Amino acid sequence: MKTIMIMNGPNLSMLGKRDPKHYGSGTLQDLENACINKGIELGVKVVCFQSESESVLVRKLHSCMGTIDGVVLNAGAYTHYSIAIRDAIELINIPVMEVHLSDIHNREEFRSHSVIEAVCAEQISGMGVDGYLLAMEKLVDKYIPENAPSASAEEVEDPIAEERDAIDVLDAELLVLFQRRMKHVDRIAKLKAQRNTATFVPGREAQILATTESSVEPAYAEYAKEWMKETMRLARERQEEIRNDL
Ligand code: DQA
Repeated sequence: MKTIMIMNGPNLSMLGKRDPKHYGSGTLQDLENACINKGIELGVKVVCFQSESESVLVRKLHSCMGTIDGVVLNAGAYTHYSIAIRDAIELINIPVMEVHLSDIHNREEFRSHSVIEAVCAEQISGMGVDGYLLAMEKLVDKYIPENAPSASAEEVEDPIAEERDAIDVLDAELLVLFQRRMKHVDRIAKLKAQRNTATFVPGREAQILATTESSVEPAYAEYAKEWMKETMRLARERQEEIRNDL
């Protein structure tokens, strides 16, 4: 069975809260459900993905190679300036349909230019959710070769590969967040050194652990706490390193 990915970029997670004049009143979940139903009608498997982050979208496009037969992409604002997403579309060599809920040619001037258009099969703009459904039809009727073996034959039907794929994407996001956390740690280390205050603040760690416990499902609470303890231990180590170097 062929597999189509519905990929949405930044701020599309906020559908339902964004200006209904341009984006309608439905949520992202409504949009994805409509695409999944369309997939049943077309006889294709549908996988949905959304991210706010350019690097995650680029990695996800890379991971489509050998696993996905066609992509419906609403790159959101990245449409207008992300050469990285453009290059990823070009290199994966999979048909990508560019879609926009709103009519990008009848809004602000800066929206009328798409840097990804030239590497996409077609652009569909201003048709709301129906534009996604039309893009799926076109992928199946025109762009995904009927007789070619499904890209996804082995991998997507292997549930372990699918889960690993999802983990790879999350790991990429986690590493970005980890790095951002460490940058704050670096700044704190320097401030503490200036003020000559202690690196270890026990009350603070207890507070973080309490927040951790209440923020995750009970089944994960102990694991999350262990994970957070290790994160804080690394932060302390890094602070010591910075202080010693000053
Ligand atoms: C959009 C149009 C883009 O200009 C905008 O930045 C979006 C959504 C659309 O679906 O109409 O986020 O791609």
